[in-house]
Amino acid sequence: MAAAAVRARVGDLLAGMNLADKVGQLTQLYYFGSREQVEGPPRQRPGEVVEALARGGVGALLFVTDPAEINRLQRLGIEGNPHGIPVLFGFDVIHGLRTIFPVPIAMAASWDPEIVERAQAVAAREARAVGLHWTFAPGVDIARDPRWGRIVEGAGEDPYLASAMAAAQVRGFQGAFIGSPEHILAGPKHFAGYGAALGGRDYDEVNLSDYEMWNIYFPPFQSALAAGAANVMSGYMDLNGIPATGNRWLLTDVLRRQLGFEGFVVSDSNAVRDLVTHEFAADPVDAAARALSAGVDVEMATTDPAYAHLSEAVESGALSIEAVDACVRRILEVKLRLGLFEQPYVDEQHARAVLADPSHLEAARVAAERSAVLLRNEGDLLPLDPTALESVAVIGPLADSPRDTLGPWVFDFELDETVTVLQGLRSRLEGTAEVGYAPGVRPARRRFPSMFDDFPGNTPLDPSGFDDEAEMRRAVNMAGSSDLAIVVVGEWQHMIGEGASRSSLELPGRQVELLKAVFATGTPVVLLVMNGRPLDLRWAAEHVPAILDIWYPGTQGGAAVANLLLGDASPAGKLPFTWPRTVGQIPLIYTHTRSHEPRNQHRRYWDEDSTPLFPFGFGLSYARFTYSELVLDRPSFHPGQCLIASVTVTNTSDCDTDETVQLYLHQRHGSASRPVRELKGFQRVHLKAGAQRTVNFTIGAAELQYWNADVQDFVLDSSTFDLWIGGDSTANLATTFTTENDKTGVS
Ligand code: NOJ
Repeated sequence: MAAAAVRARVGDLLAGMNLADKVGQLTQLYYFGSREQVEGPPRQRPGEVVEALARGGVGALLFVTDPAEINRLQRLGIEGNPHGIPVLFGFDVIHGLRTIFPVPIAMAASWDPEIVERAQAVAAREARAVGLHWTFAPGVDIARDPRWGRIVEGAGEDPYLASAMAAAQVRGFQGAFIGSPEHILAGPKHFAGYGAALGGRDYDEVNLSDYEMWNIYFPPFQSALAAGAANVMSGYMDLNGIPATGNRWLLTDVLRRQLGFEGFVVSDSNAVRDLVTHEFAADPVDAAARALSAGVDVEMATTDPAYAHLSEAVESGALSIEAVDACVRRILEVKLRLGLFEQPYVDEQHARAVLADPSHLEAARVAAERSAVLLRNEGDLLPLDPTALESVAVIGPLADSPRDTLGPWVFDFELDETVTVLQGLRSRLEGTAEVGYAPGVRPARRRFPSMFDDFPGNTPLDPSGFDDEAEMRRAVNMAGSSDLAIVVVGEWQHMIGEGASRSSLELPGRQVELLKAVFATGTPVVLLVMNGRPLDLRWAAEHVPAILDIWYPGTQGGAAVANLLLGDASPAGKLPFTWPRTVGQIPLIYTHTRSHEPRNQHRRYWDEDSTPLFPFGFGLSYARFTYSELVLDRPSFHPGQCLIASVTVTNTSDCDTDETVQLYLHQRHGSASRPVRELKGFQRVHLKAGAQRTVNFTIGAAELQYWNADVQDFVLDSSTFDLWIGGDSTANLATTFTTENDKTGVS
């Protein structure tokens, strides 16, 4: 539908709506059907949702994924709405609906926007087929404190990498335009700064300077918006003393005026009512009025929406009807642009066919292969030579746990379709080697109840009759009598994600003890890490010859891991965060400034190095690469121009694989102290054995400017810049250039 026609139709609809109809459009409720509630905030009962639908009191629903149920509720909504306005169905499609891809932090480790876009396009296709219209994703919160469990939902610490991942995901979810067939609306979240929670404690307050907001936390949102994101979700936390969901500066001055966002804003779940909990709003009427005036269009609520009080706020004069109308316009517009009025229902049979499409599984496997990061490979233990293996011991409870293989934030999975590491290796080595399995340690229980407990399989049950000592012995004996031990360690998926912050990064339970005992047998050990954040691998990084980070690799995880270990695929992922040695180093980022005593920068703790265990951008390969001939097309940059940096990358090995070529910049002096280096370009390129390739990067104003706390705006200084290109953030092939900008003017 053309823009003018959409506007006209919205105007017509709005003219016929009373205040209650309008409030309905601004209300999003959960629908859990007959699912029994174990935990979490009080929920609207299914009957109450149905009653609200029948009177046009609901504009959007969430948490329904069964196409028949969606059709049923949609019919109730349309028939109940005096204007026949369809319901928008949203859901957390974070890394897949039925076909589960690696978790977002893993996808960021692929440094491959193309595979990320493809993955989210598959997720969108499955979601749209079952009747969903909108995902609460991508998560684009920068996370610099891995104690924060939601680091797994984003792209890590770096704004440049996170921006590329944000845009790729929006393109994948939404397609070329809002309303693209087989696509859904994307909603980058949580605006903004949510990842900087004090102490890494989820929902805790966030205090960030404008310098950090503009240089670090806003860029991934800007990138998602530039890619066309239709929606933005507000955050739960206090930001500099103002709750994000009632923060007018954030949601209106920045988001709408400065970033030019024209889509609709949804609150995080219950975040409007929580304005009272935050001791910000006096009561739900005040909360509703202030959230809406701050810039929240739609309230997401489990029960008792504060927006039910919007009419009181309008009647008392706290809110104008024009302000309400502006929100309703945005939501009607998006429903029209989606084509919902013409096609509100889905074909259930088609949905089944889409969910069973084998090409989705293939995409999930490739994504898992491309996400894995090789952290250590002493003596080229990997790839394995199958002809030299008669017996392999697979050790660790995560090695054969389908639910953990999928990772957090999935609900509609098929565990039978999920390939665990054990299954993947067994089918790959069938007829070649005997693959034994011993968990060694029991699965760890969740310590705190969570709403995720409502979904079957999310919380591991204590295995009955598990004899800890006997199982440990069995695992160690099996390893000792095998040619190779593949040990899988990590965090159980329920230990990471929302509400899953930690005060330590240690491997939970007796996993280190198990690893050490297996290692002590003398059998060569390959360590696989299943994680969504850096864990304390100090011992392993010193002793275990091969370590591969496989993250939570998704539905096809085990198949991907088998291909990687046997060399059918070569690991080429790179870390999207700086991997600390220990929790006490947090926050540890590669983009720090130089300090007054740089000579001491590696010795700032007397009890621990200040260097990371693995640097940002790091990842080994089965191949070897050399970087040479770094040249610039001109020695200096002038506004309005671009610089081209090129480098020759050579694969000196006999293995075909990818390398992610990374470009870092550093400004030597200027109107602010700038980070020692910052990522400003990357390309994942394929290089056949022995091949050589010239890789070009374009550097323009966007890569050189930054937000300056003195000027309170973006500046591009006249200065000298260092430029490095290489395979990680410690790249040492360097050159320099200057920038000449007459407009640099600061005190
Ligand atoms: C709360 C989470 O913070 C948000 O990310 C999610 O989308 C909503 N719940 C809905 O599940």
